[in-house]
Amino acid sequence: MKGLILSGGTGSRLYPLTYSNAKQLIPVANKPILFRVIESIRDAGITEIGIVVGSTGKKIKEAVGRGGQWGVNITYIQQDQPLGLAHAVKVSREFLGDDRFVMFLGDNVIEGGISSLITEFAHNDWHSQIVLTRIDNPQQYGVAELGDDGRIIRLIEKPKNPPSDLALVGIYMFDKHIFEAVDGIRPSARGELEITDAIQWLVDHDYTVHPFINRGWWIDTGKQEDMLEANDLVLEEIDYTVEGYVDRDSKVGRRVCVQRGAEVINSIVRGPSIIGENARIINSYIGPFTSIGHDVLIENSEIEHSMVLEESNIRNIGARIQDSLIGRKVVIERSPIKPKALKLTVADHSQVGIL
Ligand code: G1P
Repeated sequence: MKGLILSGGTGSRLYPLTYSNAKQLIPVANKPILFRVIESIRDAGITEIGIVVGSTGKKIKEAVGRGGQWGVNITYIQQDQPLGLAHAVKVSREFLGDDRFVMFLGDNVIEGGISSLITEFAHNDWHSQIVLTRIDNPQQYGVAELGDDGRIIRLIEKPKNPPSDLALVGIYMFDKHIFEAVDGIRPSARGELEITDAIQWLVDHDYTVHPFINRGWWIDTGKQEDMLEANDLVLEEIDYTVEGYVDRDSKVGRRVCVQRGAEVINSIVRGPSIIGENARIINSYIGPFTSIGHDVLIENSEIEHSMVLEESNIRNIGARIQDSLIGRKVVIERSPIKPKALKLTVADHSQVGIL
């Protein structure tokens, strides 16, 4: 089997973080989501992986390279315009050949990996397998209607009146018949070739599409609150190790990961949380569900349930920072210079909450 990761899109709902980075490269618990996707495909025993890239392709290639660090072989496939997930399959035809494959959206995070799903697909003669999960807001996703026998009746993309609460997760398994399907459908109202319509085409033409109902968590990290939620869930899953330095005046909880070269000085760190490589936490409080990125400095400050990305500095802040997503190389500090005022240099589309 081969793997196909879709890693295009502009990430406009994650501005300003995605002005300078691809959304799939935003780290969750200090590791880019795309790296987590590559690892879960590799852990399922797949080593030939294609990554479909769009306008952020250069950043993705720089970060991922040829895949040697994971022991896989990466091929990049350019999708010049974001014309839909089924279009991404079309442009990947040469890479995929006649092989069965798993397609994984590069911004999806799922509990516990996909090895069992892949094994199941490999041992059956289904033409496709889709993953469904029960959610509260099915209008925002592809939705499946199943019959009493558990078989798929129909699939609809972002329906106004969803026939069920079963959303299509961004993980799909196909054989070569999907190419007939993507050639057989027309663009949707949003002008895209929808993978949901291509799967419906398979169902309509009597190909077997097996619906797997996922019972664990799943997050599509499209928006800021999804990012924080994914961070919470992944922090619950990681292995906790202290590789950095914690001084005797600090208290570090059991579920805290202190990465290489990090220093925790006279501070309290409550888990689950992660302190990145070479980060420094001085006279501060780091609360549960917090990811402090590599080379970050937190000094005389308190922060909880937040993500701080690489090389940012937070110093001498009187109020506790909470539920926040702070980008790279950001400086937040108390200003000693009069007049006493808020002094902000904030990028387009930023959101700042003030006491
Ligand atoms: C896409 C699919 C949708 C699926 C979702 C999962 O939506 O079209 O069917 O439920 O991914 O993340 P999009 O993110 O393109 O709106």
